[in-house]
Amino acid sequence: MRIVNVPLGQRSYLIKVGAALLETIGRECARTQLGKRCAIISDRNVTPLFGKRVKESLARAGFESEIVVVPPGETSKSVIWVEKCYDELAAHRLERKSFIVALGGGVVGDLAGFVAATYLRGIPFIQVPTTLLAQVDSSVGGKVGVNLRAGKNLVGAFYQPRLVLCDLDTLRTLPVREYRAGLAEVIKYGIIYDAELFERLEREMEKLLGRDAKVLAGIIARCCEIKAEVVAQDETESGLRAILNFGHTIGHALEAISHYGKYLHGEAISIGQIAAAKLSREILGLAGQDTERIEKLFHRAGLPTNISLNQGQHKKLFAAMKLDKKVSAGEIKFVLARRIGEVEFGQKVPTASIKRILSLPITHHASRITSHARR
Ligand SMILES: NC(=O)c1ccc[n+]([C@@H]2O[C@H](COP(=O)([O-])OP(=O)(O)OC[C@H]3O[C@@H](n4cnc5c(N)ncnc54)[C@H](O)[C@@H]3O)[C@@H](O)[C@H]2O)c1
Ligand SMILES: [Zn+2]
Repeated sequence: MRIVNVPLGQRSYLIKVGAALLETIGRECARTQLGKRCAIISDRNVTPLFGKRVKESLARAGFESEIVVVPPGETSKSVIWVEKCYDELAAHRLERKSFIVALGGGVVGDLAGFVAATYLRGIPFIQVPTTLLAQVDSSVGGKVGVNLRAGKNLVGAFYQPRLVLCDLDTLRTLPVREYRAGLAEVIKYGIIYDAELFERLEREMEKLLGRDAKVLAGIIARCCEIKAEVVAQDETESGLRAILNFGHTIGHALEAISHYGKYLHGEAISIGQIAAAKLSREILGLAGQDTERIEKLFHRAGLPTNISLNQGQHKKLFAAMKLDKKVSAGEIKFVLARRIGEVEFGQKVPTASIKRILSLPITHHASRITSHARR
């Protein structure tokens, strides 16, 4: 097992990455000195897979738990489901010392974390992420929240978990498309922070695609370490934390204009990161060779690397970029790479450059990827 510390003073916590961790949840919670009652919040896909094991492990350690099941998918990240969760917690008489276990992907983590942050003005919670995206990204760092009709993640809080348990075995049942989408965030960490990680991904992509447990453990732990380092320096995103949004300006806009239907988040930010790499070449002088390495790695991960937009879609994309909540004073700022492993945030990019980069013809291999990714 690998252990990563998230150093945030009194709010510090550990991330444990390894196999067969679900069985240890009870013991871990006992060690974290939590109250005797808890609610496991999970979704309808994940509950039948892992709910019983988690409940039994908690029972063995003397905890009384209730499972609160929400529908799978982004629509559960809503104020309506927050209220339904509150009602369940109240019905199960959870008190200030009780705690919540978020068992599932990023949707469950964000929802359950927000419920924990606000129920009785805040009760402890632990994250048990079961998607690759949630293990390397959403379960770490304390951003919790839900969507409004007006946009994603518009209601939320910074609220850190007491513990994160990444059980690698849970990834075995993850659909291949979801798994690959998670790899887009993994590659991101290499680009923004760690050239060595990027090289390791280049060497081990096949093993990673085969979900090799040993390779996964090292890589997931490294991603968590990077996120922890960034968050420890800038918990509430006043500066550095923005680097985690590499590829997300265009990625988020793509998700928005396709009404969160066509692309998974990881797929949208795969296209977004390649576009950001091309902009980086133009604006920060990222080497052409590195731009190609970046594109190639996303391609090998089976992720989409390009899109073709008509003029109407271009307009919508720009409008969506301007609506992104990270835009200040109407100016779109980008995270751009100087080299693989080193990025700069707050980079102004001329609209013309964005247009040019998005209008580049679809490269030969990109069109092959689309069919590859659909498998
Ligand atoms: N808080 C943050 O810092 C942060 C960061 C990135 C993303 N997010 C949020 O995370 C969400 C996306 O998370 P996600 O990609 O994990 O999606 P998700 O939670 O919707 O999970 C994807 C799908 O996989 C299923 N699933 C989960 N684990 C499984 C398993 N082990 N086996 C089989 N199926 C499984 C789920 O039921 C769901 O259908 C978005 O709402 C996004 O905004 C938050
Ligand atoms: Zn992301």
